[in-house]
Amino acid sequence: MRTVGEIQAETRARLEAACADTAALDARLLVMHVLSIGHEVLIGYPDRLVASCDQRTILELTERRCAGEPISRIAGVREFYGRRFQITPATLDPRPDTETVVEAVLEAAGAIWPADTPLRVLDLGTGSGALLITLLAEWPQAQGVGTDFCQDALDVAQANAQAHGVASRCRFVRSDWLEEVEGRFDIIVSNPPYIRRADLDGLAVGVKDYDPRLALDGGPDGLDAYRLIAEGIGGFLSLGGFVTMEIGEDQAEQVAGIFQAVGLGMHDDLPWLRRDLAGRPRVVTLSANFIDKSAGLIKRDLETGLGKARFR
Ligand SMILES: C[S@@+](CC[C@H](N)C(=O)[O-])C[C@H]1O[C@@H](n2cnc3c(N)ncnc32)[C@H](O)[C@@H]1O
Repeated sequence: MRTVGEIQAETRARLEAACADTAALDARLLVMHVLSIGHEVLIGYPDRLVASCDQRTILELTERRCAGEPISRIAGVREFYGRRFQITPATLDPRPDTETVVEAVLEAAGAIWPADTPLRVLDLGTGSGALLITLLAEWPQAQGVGTDFCQDALDVAQANAQAHGVASRCRFVRSDWLEEVEGRFDIIVSNPPYIRRADLDGLAVGVKDYDPRLALDGGPDGLDAYRLIAEGIGGFLSLGGFVTMEIGEDQAEQVAGIFQAVGLGMHDDLPWLRRDLAGRPRVVTLSANFIDKSAGLIKRDLETGLGKARFR
C-alpha cells in the first residue's frame, strides 16, 4: 500500500504533466476529497496508508482533472462567501465574481435599512441558490424567493438552503424569469446568463463543457435576460427597493440603461457600479424609489420610502 504523501506527489506530477497550472493545489484537493480528510490531516500524517480502492478513485478523478474538468465539478461542491454549496451539472458553478454581488447588496441594504429589517429578497436564476442563501444566512430576519427555469437546479438550491439552515425562510419557484413570481421584494438580485452567444464556443473548457448552457447564453448581444427581467420588474419592487445585477465587464452602461429605461434610477447615496478585486466592473445597482409613469409603472414619491433619497 502507498502513503498519502506518495499519492499526493504522484497526483501532482500527473497534473503537472497535463499542464494544470494549479497542479499542487489540485492534487491536495483531490486527495482530501477522496479520503474525506482535512488539510491538517493531509499535512500532519503523510505516512498514513491509502487503501487501493481510494488510490483507484484518485487516479480516475485525476484523469478527469487532466481532461479539463474543474475540481469543484469533480467534488460537486464549491465554497462561496465562506459557505459550501452543492453543485451538479444542472447548476452554474458559483464564481468568486458573484461574491461581489453579495458585497454590493449587503452594503446597499446596510446603507438603507436598519440591521433587523425583515427584508424580502428575490433571486432570479438562482442556480445552486448561492446568492439567495448567502443573503438569508447573513440576515436572519430576511425571507426570500429563488427562481430558475431549471427544476433540477431548484432541487439543488433547496438542498443547499436546508444545509445552511435557511430553508424555512425561502421558497424556490420554477419560473421563466418573473412569470410565476408573486409579491413585492425589497431587493431583487440576479446573476443572469450574459455571455454573447457567439462567444460561447471560445470559453475555457472548464466553463463551456461543464456549466449549463442555460446559465451562460445571454443571446446575440449578451443582454437578453436583462431586457426580459427589466420588462416587468416595476411590479415586483417595493418602495425604496433596489435591483442588483451581475454583469459582464463591458456591459455596465448598457445594463444600467436597460433598467433606467423602465424607470429605475441611480441612487445618489449608493454606488451604481461595483468592481471586483481585479478592478473589473461586475455589478450594477439601480433603485426603485422613482418610477416614471411614462414607463407604464407606478410613480413613487421621492419623499416616501427612503425619504431623502435622491436620483439622477
Ligand atoms: C449565470 S447562472 C447564475 C446561477 C446563480 N445565481 C449563481 O450566481 O451561481 C444563471 C441562472 O439563470 C437560469 N436561467 C436561465 N434562463 C432562465 C429563465 N428564462 N428564467 C429563469 N431562470 C433562468 C439558469 O438556469 C441559471 O441557473
